[in-house]
Amino acid sequence: MRVTASDKTIARQLLHWYDANARDLPWRAPPGSPPTDPYRVWLAEVMLQQTTVAAVRPYFAHFIETWPDVAALAAADEAEVMAAWAGLGYYSRARNLLKCARDVAARGGFPRTELELRRLSGVGAYTAAAVAAIAFGERAVVVDANVERVVARLFAIDEPLPAARAAIRGRADEITPAKRTGDHAQAMMDLGATICTVRNPRCPLCPLNSQCVAFAAGDPARFPVKPPKVARPQRTGNAYWIEREGRVWLVTRPGRGMLGNMRALPDDGWSARGDGDGVGPVRADWVPLGQVEHTFTHFSLTLAVHGGANAPPPPGEGEWWPIAEIDRAGLPTLFAKAARLALASGI
Ligand code: ADE
Repeated sequence: MRVTASDKTIARQLLHWYDANARDLPWRAPPGSPPTDPYRVWLAEVMLQQTTVAAVRPYFAHFIETWPDVAALAAADEAEVMAAWAGLGYYSRARNLLKCARDVAARGGFPRTELELRRLSGVGAYTAAAVAAIAFGERAVVVDANVERVVARLFAIDEPLPAARAAIRGRADEITPAKRTGDHAQAMMDLGATICTVRNPRCPLCPLNSQCVAFAAGDPARFPVKPPKVARPQRTGNAYWIEREGRVWLVTRPGRGMLGNMRALPDDGWSARGDGDGVGPVRADWVPLGQVEHTFTHFSLTLAVHGGANAPPPPGEGEWWPIAEIDRAGLPTLFAKAARLALASGI
């Protein structure tokens, strides 16, 4: 049977489903109601990039409580924002978030169109489209990974990613309605997150199954077609847990580079080839505490952690941080793992 996807029918059926099934999210207006504060929409959209709703919820709540509007965030200290972001990953988002808040506060509020939003610091095509549609009701084509998957399946787009993105975008544009564009975008995201999932899509429950070419063909999970896998390079490094009188020596990483401006354990730059010699940043009787593994976007890292009790602090700036309050240091996940290892080893 040849399935013909009618754009209008798709949009109508999707909104009908969304009216009954929209997820209740703290940054979201209920279906069909006026948009919420653009600050909340923008903050959520930045946090939700490459991050799940479940992971974002507590961070969103904490940010809104600490910085209830864009002027408050614009006035925040960068180190505080970075610490509040710790654990959410992709830290350049937090730096750009602050830059953007300062742009917005300086111009007296968020611009209302996709084009103008795109000009703000660190606002990419996705965020500009999402904020324009969700916060201001502009017709904009919003394509994130969930939308990409739904569209690739609806139209059985055979080309592999990333080349398929142009075709996916074209199809997403065709099915985007002129009205309720923000609800449409969020409905696509909810459908992708709850029904049209990466694995085991729940097609019998899908409001679009009668329109879906991949469903009709019998193998929807084949889409979007993935590019061949390339192995992530493996790097190794060493980090040092230097402890003295209930405190640990923490440094603040340089502003440029990985995990910039975040608190961390001293390390060797992660360029070691082997397991590391454990020579360390100062002479001390280093005790090997084990290794932690962490995956970044472009490489995987094995970090050997070495403990030094009563070692002198290494040269350069740092601070003796109370170990009992290590959770408040805002360590990014890699160093939080290393700290947990050190604490579990009871050096
Ligand atoms: N993922 C990214 N933005 C989202 C939104 N507004 N609602 C649900 N999931 C999302």
